[in-house]
Amino acid sequence: MAIKDDHYTGGETEGGITSSYATNDGVKLKVAYSFMGSIYDEAERKAALDAMSQDSLTMGPKTIEFQDKFAKMSGTKYAFAATSCTTSMHVVTQLFDIRPGDEVIVTPNTFVATSLVILKEGGVPVFADIDPRTFNIDPNDVERKITPKTKAIYVVHYAGQMVDMDPIMEIAKKHNLKVLEDCAHATGSSYKGRKAGSIGDCGAFSFHSLKNITTCGEGGMITTNNDEYAKGIQNLRCMSNMPQTWNDQLTDKNDPVWTFGKIVKRRTDPIQYWMPAHFDVIPWNGHWGSNYRMNEIQAAVGCCQLDKLDMLVAKRREIAHKITAGLQDVPGVEPVYEDPNCFHSFHLYTVCVDEKALGGSRDEFMQVLYQEEGVQGILHYQPTYHFTGLKRMGYDPDQCPRANEFFYNREFNIPMHPRLTDQDIQDMVDGIRNTSAKLRKRHCKA
Ligand SMILES: Cc1ncc(COP(=O)(O)O)c(C=O)c1O
Repeated sequence: MAIKDDHYTGGETEGGITSSYATNDGVKLKVAYSFMGSIYDEAERKAALDAMSQDSLTMGPKTIEFQDKFAKMSGTKYAFAATSCTTSMHVVTQLFDIRPGDEVIVTPNTFVATSLVILKEGGVPVFADIDPRTFNIDPNDVERKITPKTKAIYVVHYAGQMVDMDPIMEIAKKHNLKVLEDCAHATGSSYKGRKAGSIGDCGAFSFHSLKNITTCGEGGMITTNNDEYAKGIQNLRCMSNMPQTWNDQLTDKNDPVWTFGKIVKRRTDPIQYWMPAHFDVIPWNGHWGSNYRMNEIQAAVGCCQLDKLDMLVAKRREIAHKITAGLQDVPGVEPVYEDPNCFHSFHLYTVCVDEKALGGSRDEFMQVLYQEEGVQGILHYQPTYHFTGLKRMGYDPDQCPRANEFFYNREFNIPMHPRLTDQDIQDMVDGIRNTSAKLRKRHCKA
């Protein structure tokens, strides 16, 4: 049972809007916003049950298999499973050595986690405005926001359409900045033939319930091609646990690290497995690790989901293209723009409206679409600097006008997942067409 207090704004769930969009207000919906972004069948059910009978239920053979498969899929040298995209990005933030006062340039059009991980380490999110066609961070504004304190750029491949990565990587190279790709929406996406998570220094993926693939509702993955980062990720993801093979981490190879109050063994000595604590702990570059491990049931399901990834993305794309075709020439309504450099995985389908052409507001559009046409739209994302915690830090509320206009006046996301039927698609297209006509009749008398 959820605790209802001043902070609680969600439905009857423990996670608020991170676990349900159910409204329970009596509105009869034709197409509700589902919280399951994927398809599970017998394969996932069997894999989960099989994993449950293993000796270890965490970070075992299934996790290794999932990581290997994921690295192959994303075209990266390494992939490391974690509990979520948020924790994956936290690991990367520590790995990038973001320290108090360091600035990280980030998009405001993202789930708040992309900035929270910077704030957690004392870093300063600096927001760059978005491109009004793709809703992704605008490389020109990134360049404008660079100062001597800038240490990294965090991009988000919004809705599954990748950021224009070439200019981002050029800027990073020129100013010696690290790049994190927040690939929460982008499993299966690519840019100029390169997969999400393979272009920046690291990628972070989400397998939350809504995402293109899901590992039982939560899960994450970190990708990198960098050997040194690979060690750091393993160290920071799991208790600053330094495998014994990493002797090169020690400046003095004879460090007396195996102690029980007194020195018992030197690291280079042969040891028994129980001596003295099975593993050693050392902060990575001054940062202590966490417990962000993935369990075996999730990893086993993740393997099955990867087998389905091409099919899942193909279904999303087919549905999206039918919607786009259905929304041609609807006055005041813009279907999704697809950047020809990108293979869009359509995690989201974002419709934009032109309030002037409609004579009514985006909010009125969503209201009519929901209450009269039975189609549930959802907004992503309130500019991060508008959250109270950041407002209190003094962020200028008008700093990214295109992100503000996008969130408050232009966008909404319609239901998008691979189980949508042709009837659902028709209902959504008809609903949007009817809503446009109703608003124009009401306001423009057209
Ligand atoms: C763009 C973006 N980044 C990060 C996250 C955080 O992902 P997770 O829930 O796996 O921590 C999300 C989740 O919704 C997201 O949409």
